[in-house]
Amino acid sequence: MGKSDYLRIDLEECFNGECCSCSNTQERDEHIHNDLCKTAKSKLDNLPVRCIGSWGYQKIYRLVQYFGIFSKGMHKKWPVLNYVEICSGPGRCIMRNNRQEVNGTALAILKHPSFCGYLAKALFIDHNKETVNVLNKRIQNAGLANKAKAICVDFTDLDAIGKSLSILDNRSLNLVLVDPTECNLPFKTIRKISDELSNVDFIINNALGTDIKRNIIRAILDDSFIRVKQKYSRFIDDDQFFDSDEAKKLAKNSKLEELIKTFKGKYTDSWKKLGYKYFSEKSVQHYYKLKN
Ligand SMILES: C[S@@+](CC[C@H](N)C(=O)[O-])C[C@H]1O[C@@H](n2cnc3c(N)ncnc32)[C@H](O)[C@@H]1O
Repeated sequence: MGKSDYLRIDLEECFNGECCSCSNTQERDEHIHNDLCKTAKSKLDNLPVRCIGSWGYQKIYRLVQYFGIFSKGMHKKWPVLNYVEICSGPGRCIMRNNRQEVNGTALAILKHPSFCGYLAKALFIDHNKETVNVLNKRIQNAGLANKAKAICVDFTDLDAIGKSLSILDNRSLNLVLVDPTECNLPFKTIRKISDELSNVDFIINNALGTDIKRNIIRAILDDSFIRVKQKYSRFIDDDQFFDSDEAKKLAKNSKLEELIKTFKGKYTDSWKKLGYKYFSEKSVQHYYKLKN
């Protein structure tokens, strides 16, 4: 897909000359605090923005397309539809490659014509207090505080996740986007969401092209990578894979692609054990796979 194929949705895109177009991690570390840019504020509302790579646009585009299909297809079949996002960010992003600002996933959903038409509530969860405050200001500015709110919760805190979701009507069908930057969201969080909401359609940002590519071989072969190994084991909900002969053989032979494919297969197995039968997948450049 070329960039022109993505121009059909309105993400309130605008040029932001305050962006320094950071080209490496060191520059980004100087300009970013708590995941938010310290230098460029949004040209639309003067609130903080999140710095993203060009692939972020593709992710938002695909989410918005799916949301349109979901809401139009389901609103007559279910009494209530809700949208939940785990790892919501501040609602507005800036692409460092071209200094264009766009709505992030949260605002892209809230400003979708189907949101006011068909959705009862939206709940946004992020562990960063400043990010949550910024998103709540944007929700207020959009006049949507009666239907949407952002809350500060860590996705590993199962009690807090359960309590947050308990406000949603239990007759509802819920679309849940899970959007972490790496493979660090424990599968027990997915299980908790699934138990709490009963009827839930998930979109998972499976970040299989970022940290895991750099670390999976060492997580298998290097004892000092025990914490990384535990993180990935919790993600796929399998505490045996990393010590298995299969994984060790692939790691010793540097079969990275095959290893990641097997890891992904274990993750899918955990979804199947949870009762999910239908999966579809879309790659977002080589960084992510959106799975639902
Ligand atoms: C990829 S960004 C989200 C971007 C947003 N969904 C968008 O595309 O506009 C990941 C977000 O996850 C949040 N996050 C990271 N670890 C978290 C955790 N343990 N619990 C909740 N949120 C977390 C970060 O603060 C960050 O805002």
